[in-house]
Amino acid sequence: MASSTSLICDTEAWKDLKGHVEDIKKTHLRDLMSDVNRCQSMMMEFDGLLLDYSRQGATVETMDKLLNLAKDAQLTEKISRMFNGEHINSTENRSVLHVALRAPKDAVIKADGKNVVPEVWNVLDKIKEFSEKIRSGSWVGATGKPLKDVIAIGIGGSFLGPLFVHTALQTDPEALECAKGRQLRFLANIDPVDVARNINGFNPETTLVVVVSKTFTTAETMLNARTLREWITAALGASAVAKHMVAVSTNLALVEKFGINPKNAFAFWDWVGGRYSVCSAVGVLPLSLQYGFSVVEKFLRGASSIDQHFQSTPFEKNIPVLLGLLSVWNVSFLGYPARAILPYSQALEKFAPHIQQVSMESNGKGVSIDGLPLPFETGEIDFGEPGTNGQHSFYQLIHQGRIIPCDFIGVVKSQQPVYLKGEIVSNHDELMSNFFAQPDALAYGKTPEQLQKENVSENLIPHKTFSGNRPSLSLLLPELSAYNVGQLLAIYEHRVAVQGFVWGINSFDQWGVELGKILATQVRKQLHSSRTQGTALEGFNYSTTTLLKRYLETSSEPQM
Ligand code: F6P
Repeated sequence: MASSTSLICDTEAWKDLKGHVEDIKKTHLRDLMSDVNRCQSMMMEFDGLLLDYSRQGATVETMDKLLNLAKDAQLTEKISRMFNGEHINSTENRSVLHVALRAPKDAVIKADGKNVVPEVWNVLDKIKEFSEKIRSGSWVGATGKPLKDVIAIGIGGSFLGPLFVHTALQTDPEALECAKGRQLRFLANIDPVDVARNINGFNPETTLVVVVSKTFTTAETMLNARTLREWITAALGASAVAKHMVAVSTNLALVEKFGINPKNAFAFWDWVGGRYSVCSAVGVLPLSLQYGFSVVEKFLRGASSIDQHFQSTPFEKNIPVLLGLLSVWNVSFLGYPARAILPYSQALEKFAPHIQQVSMESNGKGVSIDGLPLPFETGEIDFGEPGTNGQHSFYQLIHQGRIIPCDFIGVVKSQQPVYLKGEIVSNHDELMSNFFAQPDALAYGKTPEQLQKENVSENLIPHKTFSGNRPSLSLLLPELSAYNVGQLLAIYEHRVAVQGFVWGINSFDQWGVELGKILATQVRKQLHSSRTQGTALEGFNYSTTTLLKRYLETSSEPQM
């Protein structure tokens, strides 16, 4: 068992898995897939979801060994500590309680001895009331017009999760109906081009701006907020800010300082990590403005269903735990550094970008939670695109180049079915034919013998051979309602936590993003003094000096 100051790689279970790698390397998925009992044991159902991980490079024995690893990593205890509100984010001395954001009203979840669920529901009730006022037109803008458009300003966790859920709900029939006549946009990048794209076609008179920032200090978000405040005040006068700007933050003092009435601010708490904040006001406010609170509540319920499953289901049937353990197996033992997230649904187009932050900001770490350097890699490179788009882009590499474990995500019932007369299948069946075919193409491949039988000319045989034995898993959702979107989110959030718990790292801090921010401050100061006082460049290396010199000498930025 790993003690608090030892590393997981020193445990017997880890060493046992290391030794097991050779056994697996001798197998081929073609053979593993012919063992029906094995495949049967690698199917898991929960609350309408079906997970099939039979195409992982793993046997029943591998799974037993991974469960032993979970034991040595004290996974049960770590999950309990999270749900019990202990300060498991030790470098920031914080609880990690995003599960409380979607807990039922009568649940009791404590942080520092206090039940946080009533506070969560106070904010949810406030969002419900406010979003109904905006949507019904009882809250109007400075010139008396209803606010039908919303721009949510935020970056990272204050952007990617809400964008993913918005994109997923956009074509859901119920959500679509509720969003009639309304638009929701997201302004994240500090690039003024993003500002231009966001305000294009919007009228300040009918626009509500929601500034979303946990800290209310993030440079990009604050400059974008000042830019849109200027857009509003230039058109409607300074007093319009009260009607046209609201905020979501943990830092209500800074919200007030910015000029937004704290009454129009929606709180969340330091026990919610930025990348885990979509179920707080960060996501719930903009999404409720667009779709109405009742749709968003279904999303929260879906996430909560997975939370309960994660907290109480034995590991051998626990979807996030199984997924997390398999990811550790792929990264740390089989040596696959990446993971492709491949939804066969256009509505999940922004899922991979969101999971990139959830996973890579959480688990891209070099030391253990106790600060010991890790002699193994953690985290993986996550990337992905909706299914068939990816097929015509990067799948070549996945089929014949590097081995990249793939997550295939499919949906039984399309949000927007199309049946064309004369076609042999519906459009959704056409899409899903690919969802079912690709995992087998990866697993089985195609042998030179098969090609010979097809009379493929000898010189092409090496090019047309597929080695196969490429792992994937398939997750089938019944449909893509708000509820299912919530389930999907929570599965991935907890899977990432499981990986971090097993690796023995802190998945809930993000010190790695700080250094770049500090260096940007030095550059910002230099740009200001060079432009206003002609100050010579100082304190930068040859490379940066050359680039900055070129930028300053040739740019047409106005002197501020
Ligand atoms: O990129 C670093 C980060 O701190 C993320 O973790 C966070 O989601 C993002 O910046 C935005 O932070 P804030 O919500 O405080 O503006």
